[in-house]
Order: sequence, then structure tokens, then C-alpha cells
Amino acid sequence: MDTSVSNEDFLATVAEKSNGAALRGDYEHMDAHYVVQQNWDNYTEQEHELWRKLYQRQSALLPGRACDEFIEALAKMDISAGIPVFEKTSKELFAATGWTIVAVPGLIPELTFFDHLANRRFPVTVWLRKPEEFNYIVEPDVFHDFFGHVPLLFNPVFADYMQRYGQGGLKAMRLGGLDELARLYWYTVEFGLINTPAGVRIYGAGILSSGGEVEYCLTRGTKSRHIRLDIERCLRTLYKIDSYQETYFVIDSYQQLFDGTAPDFTPIYQKLKSMDVLTANTLLADEIELLPAL
Ligand code: PHE
Ligand code: CO
Repeated sequence: MDTSVSNEDFLATVAEKSNGAALRGDYEHMDAHYVVQQNWDNYTEQEHELWRKLYQRQSALLPGRACDEFIEALAKMDISAGIPVFEKTSKELFAATGWTIVAVPGLIPELTFFDHLANRRFPVTVWLRKPEEFNYIVEPDVFHDFFGHVPLLFNPVFADYMQRYGQGGLKAMRLGGLDELARLYWYTVEFGLINTPAGVRIYGAGILSSGGEVEYCLTRGTKSRHIRLDIERCLRTLYKIDSYQETYFVIDSYQQLFDGTAPDFTPIYQKLKSMDVLTANTLLADEIELLPAL
């Protein structure tokens, strides 16, 4: 299958979706899969210092909130001292789960993204946010992509789920199911919570790289819902891109994600075409809030 998307086509689509705003990455020096060199030597000392601050703030929030798999893998990765060298972690990751890290200029076309995942390559943005974006950034940067996503790729079952998601994405493009499938990524890979014997914990990268949401998402009595993941229900649910999530889907295990996405989604996409989408704050009659106010 031809998985190349021309840079002109991609940048035109981005401009169309964002009213002409351009992406901030450098899309001049990349290969057909949007892969670039990390050029680690070009990061400034100020950027390494900003990384250290981001790392310190986030890692201090993790005990008792992030899942053990994340905390343990993060510690082993040993990336507190500055922006990491992708190649080093990539080798360690390959030895653990057969995944590699590839450097990209920033957001990339859906087809290219799915193709990377389907081949067990995780695309990581090379640039770091500016100091004034310490708390909030619009496009994903190297801190979100690397700190947020890479640790869980050391978990074999989650790593298999991510590959399957890439395969599912390529298929959803043919079936017209992209909006639905994107919601599953959002509510699992980016904003997922997991039930553990010690309590509900975070595994989603969007939360784990966020200054405020790590605490917020586990707080009882907010307006946000915490409900157990039902995949069809998730595929119907709209999400917020400019505020904390109004629904968090909670899984019991990574195996549940892997097994739940094994079936053919063709009939699900068809069925959902005739059903209404659900707003981000929906709680259905048979659903139970897992973190009720005490
Ligand atoms: N099994 C799904 C299909 O046949 C694809 C999929 C994989 C969807 C992983 C989500 C996650 O369409
Ligand atoms: Co992300």
C-alpha cells in the first residue's frame, strides 16, 4: 500500500482546518514518512533547562496518581537531565517491545501516523515548547510526546494495542470511521485511566504531560465523569480539546484494550452512522460514576 502523503497536500489540509494558521515545525528536511533527524546538538542549554523543569514538576505529581508501569518505565528511561537522545531510548525500547522512536517535525498526516504505529514506530516531535507555554501548549511537543507516550510503550500488552490501533486506523480510513476511531485514541492513549488494586490511576499521555489535569482527573466531586470503558460507547462520545475532559473512561487492564479492539469494527462503524453522537458530559442511565463525591 502506498502510504506517502505529499507535504503540499498535508500543509494545505492543515491550513484549511486551522483557518490558515501554519504548523510550527520544520517540514523542509524530511523523508517520505515525515521522518527527520533529531539534531540533538542543536538544542540550547535553555531548552534543556526547560525540559528539566517540566520533568521535575510532572514527575513529582506522579506517585499515587500515575500507573506503576508508567512510573517504573520512566525511572528506567533516565531522562531527567535534559531533552533525551531519541536513539538511546529507541534502542532500549526496541529490546523491550520491538518498538522504535522516530523523529518528526510535529503533527503528521493521519495516514503517515497510522502507518508508523502499524509498524511499531512511535513518532516524536523534535521541538520543545517555549518557556511561556510551560503550562499549556496547543500542538504536541517533544515533552508531551516523549515523556507522555514513550514509557507505556515498554509495556508489552499496551505496545501491542498501539500497533493494532495503527492497523485499525488504516482500515478506518477506508471505512469512513476515522472520527469514531480518533475518539478511542483520545479517551484511551491520551486521557485513559486504569483501575488497580491501589485505586484508579492514570495511563493517558495527555494527562501525564499536563500540569493541572494529573490532579484534576482523579479529584472526586468535579463535574467530570469516570465510567468504565465500553468501546462502542467511547466511539460515540465527543471530546474536549480546549479544557479538561468531562468524561474519563476507566479500563481494568491493558489486555481489555487489546481484546476489545480485536473484533472487526466494520459493523460498529455502520451502526454508529445511524446513532447520535454523545456530548462529552453524557452519563447514560445504566452508567455508574466510579469516583463519586465522598
Ligand atoms: N479491529 C478493528 C477493526 O477491525 C481495528 C481496531 C484496532 C480498532 C485497534 C481500534 C483499535 O476495524
Ligand atoms: Co499525544
